[in-house]
This record gives sequence, structure tokens and C-alpha cells, in this order.
Amino acid sequence: MKFFIDTANLAQIREAYDLGVLDGVTTNPSLMAKEGITGQDNVIKHYIDICDIVDDNVSAEVIATTFDEIIKEGEALAALNEKIVVKVPMIKDGVKAIKYFTDKGIRTNCTLVFSAGQALLAAKAGATFVSPFVGRLDDISTDGLALIEDIRLIYDNYGYETQILAASVRHPMHILECAKIGADVITAPLSAITALLKHPLTDSGLAQFLADHAKAAAAKP
Ligand code: G3P
Repeated sequence: MKFFIDTANLAQIREAYDLGVLDGVTTNPSLMAKEGITGQDNVIKHYIDICDIVDDNVSAEVIATTFDEIIKEGEALAALNEKIVVKVPMIKDGVKAIKYFTDKGIRTNCTLVFSAGQALLAAKAGATFVSPFVGRLDDISTDGLALIEDIRLIYDNYGYETQILAASVRHPMHILECAKIGADVITAPLSAITALLKHPLTDSGLAQFLADHAKAAAAKP
């Protein structure tokens, strides 16, 4: 399973990359705004800065919502760096644009997916990644992980190569459940990824090992 970090924060991207487990980055206009990145020139520069940190798979989201504008914006984003994946919303013109980008060899991430039908359309259009939002479905008392299961079943039935990128993943149990279901990718905040490290028995076991080592070393003549 690939791990992407869901942030536009460069320090957190570096930290996850340095951990050696990072396969990519997802951003969106809200995450950019959270980092105070405004204005097209600054947004472009920020994408280039992210590409300089990681090896591949930097999702850059279009703001446009009409076919011609999505194509124009997406092609400009894709031209920035070969690591860029153009992130396109699940709307009618977005699906058309994904098909266009696919035919041109430009990778895409279809975002804001909340149903299996939407995921099926994204795969038919040839999206590289589909982003179902797990946490936001949970927020409205709908089982986000059940959607990941449905998409996995449908894609496996027909051998679709579109990768299931579980998004809006909020905590370590979401990551584990996605891994059990067979999501191809999760994108999560750094806190959810590093939470996988934690176990109280690891902490107490290590403390005991170090204490015993020190005791034995002190006892030696
Ligand atoms: O990848 C989509 C993600 O950024 C949405 O996450 O936590 O805002 O629902 P969240």
C-alpha cells in the first residue's frame, strides 16, 4: 500500500519523506489556503517546492470547473514537473477532462468521490487514482470504509487499473482498515501516519531493555 501525506506543509512533507515511507503528496485548495499560499504564482512555486522534496505522485488540484478551463489549467500543472498528478473534481466536465488527460498520457486523481457510481465513472474515464473521502462520509453517519470495500469489489470484478486512493483518512484505524480492504493508497495527515508507530508495550519494553543493558554493563568488572 502506498502512503501519501495530505498536506501542503513543507516541514511535514519533509518529515514524512525522511521517515522513508512516503510515496506521494495530496493537496487541495483548502490545504493550500491553510498554509497561507495564495495567488497563482505562489501556488505554482509551492507545487515545485513539494516536487523537490518527494520522489513522485504530487497531486495538484485544478480550480476550474469547465472542460476547456480544466484542460488549460491541468496541462499547465502537468508541465511543471513529471511528478505532478492533475487532481480533477468528480463533475461532468471533470470526467470528460480525465478522459482527455488519460488519452494524452497525463496522470489524474479524481477527487471528491462519495459513491461507488462516481468511482466507476472515474475508472471508465481512465483516472490514475480515485479519491473516495472516508472521513467526510463518516462525518455524516455514513460508513466511509464500506465505500472503499464497494469500489475494491467493482474494480476487481473488471480489472480496472485505477488505484483506490482512500482520502479524508483521519486516524490510524482508518489506515489499517483501508489496508485490510486492499486500498492501493491512503492519504493522511502526518499525525495519523506517525500514530502507527505507537504502542505502550514498545515503550515499556524498550525502557526495560535499556535498563537491563545498563545494569549488566555496570556490573561488569
Ligand atoms: O484528501 C482529501 C482530504 O484533504 C480531505 O480531508 O479531513 O478535510 O475531510 P478532510
